[in-house]
Amino acid sequence: MSPTVGNDRPTHSADGGDVRALLTNVSARSSSRAELWTSFLAATGLARVAEVGVWKGDFAAALLAGCPAIDTYLMIDPWRHLDDWNKPANVATDTFETIRQEAMAKTDFAASRRRVMRGTTLEVVDTIDDGSLDFAYIDGDHTLRGIITDLIAMRPKIRAGGFLGGDDFCPSVWQHGPAYEPTLVCPAAVHVALAMRATIFALPFNQFLIAMPNGERGAGGFVDLGGRYGALDLASQVRPPHAGARARLRGALAALRRRAGRPRG
Ligand SMILES: C[S@@+](CC[C@H](N)C(=O)[O-])C[C@H]1O[C@@H](n2cnc3c(N)ncnc32)[C@H](O)[C@@H]1O
Repeated sequence: MSPTVGNDRPTHSADGGDVRALLTNVSARSSSRAELWTSFLAATGLARVAEVGVWKGDFAAALLAGCPAIDTYLMIDPWRHLDDWNKPANVATDTFETIRQEAMAKTDFAASRRRVMRGTTLEVVDTIDDGSLDFAYIDGDHTLRGIITDLIAMRPKIRAGGFLGGDDFCPSVWQHGPAYEPTLVCPAAVHVALAMRATIFALPFNQFLIAMPNGERGAGGFVDLGGRYGALDLASQVRPPHAGARARLRGALAALRRRAGRPRG
């Protein structure tokens, strides 16, 4: 993708080859997640951006400061305790209020460019016009329910040739250990992207970017720029309950049969 596309809707080739070149370049020279996205957005000149899951506003502040071309920045977050969200960031509602105020203070310098949308994705998404966004950054609920909901709900809001990106594209679903709901941004985002015939890129710092089809019908694909992601199956990470006990039992039965000189089965 040329960073100097001369219209107000920068776009990319159907096979994502130009996006790949740009992402390879910005990945190589970025030392943080914020730097990676700031470089990408600054290079593409994307203007209408949404962030799902804002927390304390550090990411929003970095993008608003580093990308003057952004004229609209939607900040979507309920900033309240959610009863059905088993993740470490689900703090008490009064703590969330302090966090919200911090997010506002950090982005006050760009108050005329931000639009604060307090609520979960599903609570606010219907107030966003279809096709009105160039880029949405998904960083809210990273469970299976959350990532599927956010990608499906936000997708129509992105114009043809726009982008859906996000955080917590972790090679392991056990990002927060067994006490918490697994993180399923990977592989769910890959499957959703391929269903949309879009190309999805795995980036450094556990980031992903989906280049939405721009009208031409592409095949889509998964491009792992850092080579960190192996098979996308779940069976290698998630075992059925009592799988260990069953395997031990099978082993013990086989040993008994061997001792008794009986054939298997
Ligand atoms: C990991 S934090 C976001 C971090 C932030 N993007 C950053 O880079 O600084 C996750 C945020 O997602 C929000 N969240 C959780 N469930 C959500 C949902 N269903 N819709 C929108 N936001 C959600 C939480 O309130 C929390 O502030």
